[in-house]
Amino acid sequence: MAKNRFFNRNVVSIRDFNLDDFAYLFDVTDKIQTLKSKERGEIAKGLILGYIFYEYSTRTRLSFESAMSSIGGRSLGISDVDSSSIMKGESYADTIKTISLYSDVILIRHPSDGSSRYACEISQKPVINGGSGSEEHPTQAMLDIYTIFKEKKKIDGLSIGIVGDLKYGRTVYSLIYALSNYNVDIHLVSPAVLKIRNESIYDISHKVNMRQHVELSDELLEKLDIIYVTRIQRERFPDLQEYNKIQGLYTIDENVLKKSKPDVSILHPLPRVDEISPSIDNTANALYFKQAAYGKELRAALLSSLLHEDPF
Ligand code: CP
Repeated sequence: MAKNRFFNRNVVSIRDFNLDDFAYLFDVTDKIQTLKSKERGEIAKGLILGYIFYEYSTRTRLSFESAMSSIGGRSLGISDVDSSSIMKGESYADTIKTISLYSDVILIRHPSDGSSRYACEISQKPVINGGSGSEEHPTQAMLDIYTIFKEKKKIDGLSIGIVGDLKYGRTVYSLIYALSNYNVDIHLVSPAVLKIRNESIYDISHKVNMRQHVELSDELLEKLDIIYVTRIQRERFPDLQEYNKIQGLYTIDENVLKKSKPDVSILHPLPRVDEISPSIDNTANALYFKQAAYGKELRAALLSSLLHEDPF
C-alpha cells in the first residue's frame, strides 16, 4: 500500500483532501473488502469510535458503527441529545472534550456550520464531520465519488447533474468541492428559491464547468451520465408554504429514465421522500442503495487509516 495519507487527521471539510488522498482512500476501500473477516477484525481491536448526533441520522451513524465493528473496534455515543447532560446545560465544548476522553476518534453531526472545525480545537482525538449545518458532509462526498468511480470506472469526462435542494443540501457542497478536482461538467438543477449559494462555490468556480438550470429538461437528460438527486429539506425551510410549492418538482421515475442515457446512474445520499419513485429501485440505473452500502466500506477504510499509521 502507498503511504497512509490519513493517519491522525481531522475530516472536517472535503476541501482539505486532494486527488492523491482520494486515490489512497479508494485503494484502501478496495483492499479492505478483500480481507478475511478475522484479519479485518484485528485492525481496530481495542479502539473506540465516540459519536454525538445533534440531528437525526440513519446511514451516517449506522454505517460508521457497522464499519467500526467490522474492523474490530467499538462505538459509543449519544444519538439522542435529550438523554444527555446537554439537557442540564453542559456546553458543546465540554461535551466534545468529554467524548474525546472516552474514545480514539470522534464523529459529530451538528446543525451549525463550523461546529466540527471548532470541535477540532477541543478534542485531542481526530474529529470526523458527520454533517455540519448546510455547510458540508465530507465522508458522504468521499463515498459518492467512490461510487461513481466504481460504477463508471472513471470520473473525468462525465456529465453530472445535481438536482433538488442546492441551497441547504450540505452533501451538494461537499460533492461539488470534491468534483472540482476532476475534469467534469456539472449541471445544477433547482427551483430558483433553492439555487446554489454562489458565495460558497465562488472560489472553485474557475476550476470546474458548472451550469445552472431550473428545469430537468429532455435536452439535459440526454447529456447526463449521473443524476445525483437530493431531498428538498423540509426541516431547513423557514416558510412551509414555500416548501409545499416545490415539493415533488423533480421526481425521478420511469419516464425520466426513458429520456435519459440508457446507462445513466441515479445517486442519492438518502433519505428520500418522493424525489425518486420506488418503481425504479430495481433498475440497473438505481445506485442509491449500493451507494449506501459502499458507505460502510469506505468508512471502514477511513477509520482504519485515521487510527493506524499502517492499517494493514
Ligand atoms: N446520507 C446521510 O447522511 O444519511 P443520514 O442522514 O441518514 O445519516
